[in-house]
Amino acid sequence: MQIRSSANLGLIGRNRTFDTALSFARKAARHDCPLLIVGETGTGKDEVARLVHAHSTRASGPFVSLNCAALPEALIESELFGYERGAFTGAGRSYAGRFVAADGGTLFLDELGDLPLASQAKLLRAIEHREVTPLGSMRARKVDLRIVAATHQPLEAMVRERRFREDLFYRLSVARVQLPPLRERRDDILELAAHFMAPLKRSADGARVGWFDAVALECLLAHRWPGNVRELRNVIESIFIDPPDGPITLRSLPAYLAQPFDDPNTAAVPGRNERQRILDTLLATHWNKAAAARELKWSRVTLYRKMAKHAIPCASEAQADPVRSHAG
Ligand SMILES: Nc1ncnc2c1ncn2[C@@H]1O[C@H](COP(=O)(O)OP(=O)(O)O)[C@@H](O)[C@H]1O
Ligand SMILES: [Mg+2]
Repeated sequence: MQIRSSANLGLIGRNRTFDTALSFARKAARHDCPLLIVGETGTGKDEVARLVHAHSTRASGPFVSLNCAALPEALIESELFGYERGAFTGAGRSYAGRFVAADGGTLFLDELGDLPLASQAKLLRAIEHREVTPLGSMRARKVDLRIVAATHQPLEAMVRERRFREDLFYRLSVARVQLPPLRERRDDILELAAHFMAPLKRSADGARVGWFDAVALECLLAHRWPGNVRELRNVIESIFIDPPDGPITLRSLPAYLAQPFDDPNTAAVPGRNERQRILDTLLATHWNKAAAARELKWSRVTLYRKMAKHAIPCASEAQADPVRSHAG
């Protein structure tokens, strides 16, 4: 049996939902059927498409990808199906296109939900007939490939609204892999963070960076991560631009990570009053954050975030111990 990390091509994650999705992807990979990967941006759809190719019977063939959202409508079909020399103004020589390039391997259609309706019809025809006809050509060419598609869009709803062809949807979603957003697999956040830190710690400056302190950890674990794993990777990279010498504190995290939650209790309180209220409570509780949070009816994470937002230090000036703070 292969060890886990190589089986998953370096994809990190022990979360049950994520792991179930990956093992299904590996099983589906061995069948030569189309596969649809669904998930928010940054959840690892590209990586899973490569994993499927690597575990498929076509692994020794090419892996070719096309991002349907990155090209203007007029260019998508010539990219997919190719064109003959002189097919349109500017077509100085012929171009085989991505279908032909992926012959024998996997064609990865990223952001499938952005494929225009007119191209959807031609794509379906190419898949069903297993052949493509380049623009300006009369001759069809046979292709033998596997299609893996990905999207962050709700294709079923798009089908109901007639923005996506039902027949193409069913054709491409024979096997379907749903990747969970990072906020639903918080148990993987720290392992992913360590994974993205490892190469950055190889430089002399990077080697001095420690692990997250308790407050920074709470922020990482409480954040909603709308950009998912990609956002986490970027946060880790940003820490190493001006790396701390020692533990990673709130100071090293982007300001938006230390922002408070939208809290109905305080939404109506203007910022200055809120700062004063926090300071008053901290003074009353002798800077005991747990007690202050209880008093304010917030979680400790919320209190820490709000303290960071209002630039309130974690300890009062009088409490800061100059000997200890210089020793570490
Ligand atoms: N489980 C994972 N383990 C390690 N890196 C991951 C994982 N999922 C995503 N990544 C990394 O996060 C970034 C975004 O992933 P990507 O596959 O491009 O997401 P998507 O295609 O869903 O937007 C990439 O740098 C990728 O290598
Ligand atoms: Mg992607």
